Amino acid sequence: MAKKKSAYGGPFSLVNEWLAEATEKEINDPTAMSLATTTRNGFPSVRMVLLKGCDERGLVFYTNIESRKGVELVENPNAALLFHWKSLRRQIRVEGAVEAVSDDEADAYFASRARASQIGAWASAQSRPMEGRFEFEASIAKYTAKFGTSEVPRPDFWVGYRLKPTYFEFWRDRRFRLHERRTYEVSADGSEWNLQEIYP
Ligand SMILES: Cc1cc2nc3c(=O)[nH]c(=O)nc-3n(C[C@H](O)[C@H](O)[C@H](O)COP(=O)(O)O)c2cc1C
Repeated sequence: MAKKKSAYGGPFSLVNEWLAEATEKEINDPTAMSLATTTRNGFPSVRMVLLKGCDERGLVFYTNIESRKGVELVENPNAALLFHWKSLRRQIRVEGAVEAVSDDEADAYFASRARASQIGAWASAQSRPMEGRFEFEASIAKYTAKFGTSEVPRPDFWVGYRLKPTYFEFWRDRRFRLHERRTYEVSADGSEWNLQEIYP
Protein backbone atom coordinates (compact mmCIF):
# COMPACT_ATOMS: atom_id res chain seq x y z
CA MET A 1 0.00 0.00 0.00
CA ALA A 2 1.37 3.42 -0.93
CA LYS A 3 1.87 6.06 1.74
CA LYS A 4 -1.49 7.68 2.47
CA LYS A 5 -2.65 10.63 4.46
CA SER A 6 -5.26 10.08 7.11
CA ALA A 7 -7.61 12.49 8.79
CA TYR A 8 -6.24 13.40 12.24
CA GLY A 9 -8.82 11.31 14.10
CA GLY A 10 -7.92 8.14 12.18
CA PRO A 11 -5.75 6.17 14.60
CA PHE A 12 -7.64 7.33 17.72
CA SER A 13 -10.95 6.13 16.27
CA LEU A 14 -9.33 2.84 15.36
CA VAL A 15 -8.02 2.36 18.92
CA ASN A 16 -11.56 2.93 20.21
CA GLU A 17 -13.04 0.53 17.62
CA TRP A 18 -10.62 -2.23 18.58
CA LEU A 19 -11.19 -1.51 22.28
CA ALA A 20 -14.94 -1.89 21.78
CA GLU A 21 -14.38 -5.29 20.16
CA ALA A 22 -11.96 -6.30 22.95
CA THR A 23 -14.55 -5.27 25.55
CA GLU A 24 -16.95 -7.81 24.01
CA LYS A 25 -14.39 -10.60 23.81
CA GLU A 26 -11.76 -10.33 26.58
CA ILE A 27 -12.48 -12.15 29.83
CA ASN A 28 -11.19 -9.19 31.90
CA ASP A 29 -9.38 -5.84 31.73
CA PRO A 30 -9.83 -5.10 28.01
CA THR A 31 -8.29 -1.67 28.60
CA ALA A 32 -5.07 -3.07 30.11
CA MET A 33 -1.92 -1.93 28.32
CA SER A 34 1.81 -2.24 28.94
CA LEU A 35 3.58 1.03 29.67
CA ALA A 36 7.31 1.21 28.90
CA THR A 37 9.43 3.95 30.43
CA THR A 38 13.16 4.50 30.83
CA THR A 39 15.57 6.01 33.28
CA ARG A 40 17.56 9.09 32.38
CA ASN A 41 20.29 6.73 31.14
CA GLY A 42 17.99 4.74 28.88
CA PHE A 43 17.42 1.62 31.01
CA PRO A 44 13.88 0.42 30.18
CA SER A 45 11.15 -0.92 32.46
CA VAL A 46 7.61 -2.04 31.68
CA ARG A 47 4.36 -2.73 33.58
CA MET A 48 0.61 -2.84 32.98
CA VAL A 49 -1.73 0.10 33.51
CA LEU A 50 -5.38 0.70 32.59
CA LEU A 51 -6.42 3.08 29.82
CA LYS A 52 -8.89 5.62 31.18
CA GLY A 53 -9.53 7.70 28.07
CA CYS A 54 -8.57 7.90 24.42
CA ASP A 55 -9.35 10.82 22.13
CA GLU A 56 -7.39 13.07 19.79
CA ARG A 57 -5.54 14.62 22.74
CA GLY A 58 -3.98 11.26 23.65
CA LEU A 59 -4.26 8.17 25.85
CA VAL A 60 -4.78 8.63 29.59
CA PHE A 61 -3.74 6.51 32.58
CA TYR A 62 -3.48 7.19 36.31
CA THR A 63 -0.75 6.34 38.78
CA ASN A 64 1.42 7.45 41.68
CA ILE A 65 3.96 10.08 40.63
CA GLU A 66 6.39 8.77 43.28
CA SER A 67 6.30 5.22 41.85
CA ARG A 68 9.11 3.84 39.75
CA LYS A 69 7.25 4.71 36.52
CA GLY A 70 6.43 8.17 37.90
CA VAL A 71 10.08 8.86 38.68
CA GLU A 72 11.15 7.56 35.25
CA LEU A 73 8.56 9.72 33.46
CA VAL A 74 10.03 12.79 35.17
CA GLU A 75 13.51 11.73 33.98
CA ASN A 76 12.29 10.95 30.45
CA PRO A 77 8.71 11.77 29.38
CA ASN A 78 9.01 9.64 26.22
CA ALA A 79 7.11 6.41 26.70
CA ALA A 80 5.48 3.56 24.79
CA LEU A 81 2.18 1.71 25.25
CA LEU A 82 1.20 -1.74 24.03
CA PHE A 83 -2.22 -3.37 23.92
CA HIS A 84 -2.42 -7.09 23.23
CA TRP A 85 -5.78 -8.82 22.98
CA LYS A 86 -5.38 -12.59 22.80
CA SER A 87 -9.07 -13.05 21.99
CA LEU A 88 -8.76 -10.79 18.93
CA ARG A 89 -5.18 -11.78 18.03
CA ARG A 90 -4.33 -8.11 17.68
CA GLN A 91 -1.88 -5.62 19.14
CA ILE A 92 -1.53 -1.86 19.07
CA ARG A 93 1.76 -0.06 19.70
CA VAL A 94 1.73 3.63 20.62
CA GLU A 95 4.70 5.96 21.17
CA GLY A 96 4.97 9.55 22.34
CA ALA A 97 5.68 11.86 25.24
CA VAL A 98 3.49 12.09 28.31
CA GLU A 99 2.16 15.19 30.01
CA ALA A 100 0.16 15.45 33.23
CA VAL A 101 -3.61 15.82 32.86
CA SER A 102 -5.13 18.90 34.53
CA ASP A 103 -5.93 18.82 38.26
CA ASP A 104 -9.64 19.13 37.40
CA GLU A 105 -9.52 16.10 35.12
CA ALA A 106 -7.61 14.01 37.68
CA ASP A 107 -9.96 15.14 40.49
CA ALA A 108 -13.02 14.14 38.43
CA TYR A 109 -11.64 10.68 37.68
CA PHE A 110 -10.46 10.14 41.29
CA ALA A 111 -13.94 11.10 42.54
CA SER A 112 -15.48 8.40 40.31
CA ARG A 113 -13.42 5.61 41.91
CA ALA A 114 -14.68 3.28 44.64
CA ARG A 115 -14.04 4.67 48.14
CA ALA A 116 -11.80 1.71 49.04
CA SER A 117 -9.67 2.43 45.97
CA GLN A 118 -9.46 6.10 46.94
CA ILE A 119 -8.25 5.16 50.43
CA GLY A 120 -5.87 2.62 48.91
CA ALA A 121 -4.31 5.39 46.84
CA TRP A 122 -3.54 7.33 50.05
CA ALA A 123 -2.31 4.22 51.88
CA SER A 124 0.06 2.82 49.25
CA ALA A 125 3.58 4.23 48.87
CA GLN A 126 3.62 2.59 45.46
CA SER A 127 6.91 0.91 44.45
CA ARG A 128 8.66 1.62 47.76
CA PRO A 129 9.71 -1.07 50.29
CA MET A 130 7.10 -2.34 52.76
CA GLU A 131 7.88 -4.08 56.08
CA GLY A 132 4.99 -6.47 55.57
CA ARG A 133 1.30 -6.58 54.70
CA PHE A 134 0.44 -5.46 58.29
CA GLU A 135 2.13 -2.11 57.59
CA PHE A 136 -0.11 -1.56 54.55
CA GLU A 137 -3.20 -2.62 56.50
CA ALA A 138 -2.29 -0.20 59.30
CA SER A 139 -1.93 2.56 56.72
CA ILE A 140 -5.36 1.70 55.23
CA ALA A 141 -6.88 1.76 58.74
CA LYS A 142 -5.23 5.14 59.43
CA TYR A 143 -6.69 6.77 56.29
CA THR A 144 -10.07 5.10 56.73
CA ALA A 145 -10.26 6.69 60.21
CA LYS A 146 -8.86 10.02 58.99
CA PHE A 147 -11.48 10.48 56.25
CA GLY A 148 -14.34 9.02 58.29
CA THR A 149 -17.52 9.65 56.32
CA SER A 150 -16.20 12.73 54.50
CA GLU A 151 -15.22 12.87 50.83
CA VAL A 152 -11.76 11.45 50.08
CA PRO A 153 -9.70 14.10 48.26
CA ARG A 154 -7.22 13.15 45.55
CA PRO A 155 -3.67 12.92 46.93
CA ASP A 156 -1.24 15.32 45.17
CA PHE A 157 0.97 12.34 44.33
CA TRP A 158 -1.83 10.51 42.52
CA VAL A 159 -1.82 11.85 38.98
CA GLY A 160 -3.05 11.25 35.45
CA TYR A 161 -0.79 11.18 32.43
CA ARG A 162 -1.77 11.71 28.82
CA LEU A 163 0.52 10.12 26.26
CA LYS A 164 0.38 12.28 23.16
CA PRO A 165 1.13 9.86 20.32
CA THR A 166 3.44 10.53 17.40
CA TYR A 167 3.35 6.91 16.21
CA PHE A 168 0.84 4.03 16.17
CA GLU A 169 1.09 0.52 14.80
CA PHE A 170 -1.97 -1.68 14.36
CA TRP A 171 -1.14 -5.39 14.05
CA ARG A 172 -3.60 -8.08 13.02
CA ASP A 173 -3.07 -11.79 12.83
CA ARG A 174 -3.25 -13.39 9.40
CA ARG A 175 -2.84 -17.04 8.45
CA PHE A 176 0.66 -18.51 8.09
CA ARG A 177 2.13 -15.56 9.97
CA LEU A 178 1.46 -13.27 7.00
CA HIS A 179 0.28 -10.66 9.46
CA GLU A 180 -0.98 -7.19 8.70
CA ARG A 181 0.86 -4.15 10.09
CA ARG A 182 -0.26 -0.57 9.58
CA THR A 183 1.60 2.39 10.99
CA TYR A 184 0.43 5.95 11.48
CA GLU A 185 3.14 8.57 11.88
CA VAL A 186 2.33 12.17 12.64
CA SER A 187 3.41 14.72 10.01
CA ALA A 188 6.12 17.30 10.82
CA ASP A 189 3.53 20.03 11.46
CA GLY A 190 1.39 17.66 13.54
CA SER A 191 -1.68 18.25 11.38
CA GLU A 192 -2.15 14.80 9.84
CA TRP A 193 -1.20 11.16 10.02
CA ASN A 194 0.81 9.31 7.39
CA LEU A 195 -0.47 5.79 6.98
CA GLN A 196 2.00 3.12 5.89
CA GLU A 197 1.79 -0.63 5.59
CA ILE A 198 4.96 -2.51 6.65
CA TYR A 199 6.13 -6.11 6.27
CA PRO A 200 5.20 -8.51 9.03
C1 LIG B 1 -4.10 -5.46 34.52
C2 LIG B 1 -3.32 -4.49 35.39
C3 LIG B 1 -3.71 -3.16 35.43
C4 LIG B 1 -3.01 -2.24 36.21
N1 LIG B 1 -3.38 -0.92 36.20
C5 LIG B 1 -2.65 -0.01 36.88
C6 LIG B 1 -2.95 1.39 36.76
O1 LIG B 1 -3.87 1.82 36.02
N2 LIG B 1 -2.18 2.26 37.47
C7 LIG B 1 -1.13 1.84 38.26
O2 LIG B 1 -0.49 2.68 38.88
N3 LIG B 1 -0.82 0.53 38.37
C8 LIG B 1 -1.55 -0.40 37.68
N4 LIG B 1 -1.22 -1.74 37.77
C9 LIG B 1 -0.06 -2.12 38.60
C10 LIG B 1 1.23 -1.87 37.79
O3 LIG B 1 1.39 -2.87 36.79
C11 LIG B 1 2.48 -1.81 38.68
O4 LIG B 1 2.59 -2.96 39.48
C12 LIG B 1 2.49 -0.59 39.58
O5 LIG B 1 1.91 0.55 38.96
C13 LIG B 1 3.90 -0.23 40.01
O6 LIG B 1 4.70 -0.05 38.87
P1 LIG B 1 6.13 0.70 38.96
O7 LIG B 1 6.83 0.19 40.20
O8 LIG B 1 6.86 0.33 37.71
O9 LIG B 1 5.85 2.18 39.04
C14 LIG B 1 -1.90 -2.68 36.99
C15 LIG B 1 -1.52 -4.03 36.96
C16 LIG B 1 -2.22 -4.92 36.15
C17 LIG B 1 -1.76 -6.36 36.11
